[in-house]
Amino acid sequence: MMRWGVVGPGAIATGFADAMQHVEGGVITAVASRSGERANAFGDRFGIPTRYADYAALAEDPEVDVVYVSTPHSRHEVDTLRLLEGGKHVLCEKPFALNARQARRMVAAARSRGLFLMEAIWSRFLPAYRSLVDIIGSGKIGEVLLVEADFGFQRPVDPEHRLFRLDLGGGGLLDLGIYPLQLSSLLLGTAEHVAAEGVVGETGVDEAVAAVLRFSGGQLGVIKAALRMKMACTARITGTDGVIEVPAFMHCPNSLTLQSAAGVEEIDGSYEGNGLRFEIEEVHRLLAAGSTESRVMPLDETIALASTLDAIRAQIGVAYPDE
Ligand SMILES: NC(=O)c1ccc[n+]([C@@H]2O[C@H](COP(=O)([O-])OP(=O)(O)OC[C@H]3O[C@@H](n4cnc5c(N)ncnc54)[C@H](OP(=O)(O)O)[C@@H]3O)[C@@H](O)[C@H]2O)c1
Repeated sequence: MMRWGVVGPGAIATGFADAMQHVEGGVITAVASRSGERANAFGDRFGIPTRYADYAALAEDPEVDVVYVSTPHSRHEVDTLRLLEGGKHVLCEKPFALNARQARRMVAAARSRGLFLMEAIWSRFLPAYRSLVDIIGSGKIGEVLLVEADFGFQRPVDPEHRLFRLDLGGGGLLDLGIYPLQLSSLLLGTAEHVAAEGVVGETGVDEAVAAVLRFSGGQLGVIKAALRMKMACTARITGTDGVIEVPAFMHCPNSLTLQSAAGVEEIDGSYEGNGLRFEIEEVHRLLAAGSTESRVMPLDETIALASTLDAIRAQIGVAYPDE
């Protein structure tokens, strides 16, 4: 039984704890909040016995094997490094870090200690994404030439919300754009050239961004993300011999549409319950096998994703404090 800790009991941690109730082989034994009251409320809600009113204490808890870091992006590095120093394996929410420099330090710390670390790109473990990878591998759409994907909402500006706060790593690119980007990376690898345009709002974060990626084999990626522009939230993968459409929401689809020489086929990718459970099951499998990295979401790819996000931000003029 893997004993989990949770650091930062906010919105997605609630989803994580809900998913954990439907996963075999793991249990949340401790939660850490900046406030004792919030730690207790989360602990009561999910039956978690140990509650901490500071994050450092959880890193020292000998009853915890692996920790889910679900704080705002600006804290991912500091929280992950402290947990690794305490000997914990870590599943860190996306985006893994504010920039590639932080990502490299986190990865180096895990590797030097022989501890497990993974960016929580839950999409990749969902049935539809597994099918997507299988279809591409089968050659049914030939060679992938183009990946188009977007993820954007229209939200009112709220300078207090983490998404609009530069100091918390706000902006649509890091929060939502990581999903279209990781899809292009999954299918085409790391772009050799990036051209981006963006709209930076009054709080200094990117409110809308569009980027064209060019890959070494001449393939293209077109990705968009926004906090203040409603987008289709879909993806389309064009190959030499066919097309795959990923419906909304492209980061957690229930199905795929495959158009190929054989005709049009709907591929079922539906699942019961909370989709976060698939990545948790992957962590359990890997820890049980003594693996420290996932082949589905490798750490070198996580660093490459962070580098591409850096390149896009440099072009649209978004820099976080201390950068
Ligand atoms: N996988 C997904 O589908 C998904 C979905 C949403 C978000 N995420 C990622 O998960 C992370 C958290 O997102 P969220 O939506 O859960 O955020 P959230 O609701 O604001 O929760 C973040 C938690 O972090 C803690 N925290 C520590 N320092 C903080 C600070 N300075 N300001 C605000 N909160 C702080 C807070 O808990 P305490 O104060 O109680 O410690 C807070 O509840 C982000 O990196 C985001 O990109 C992933």
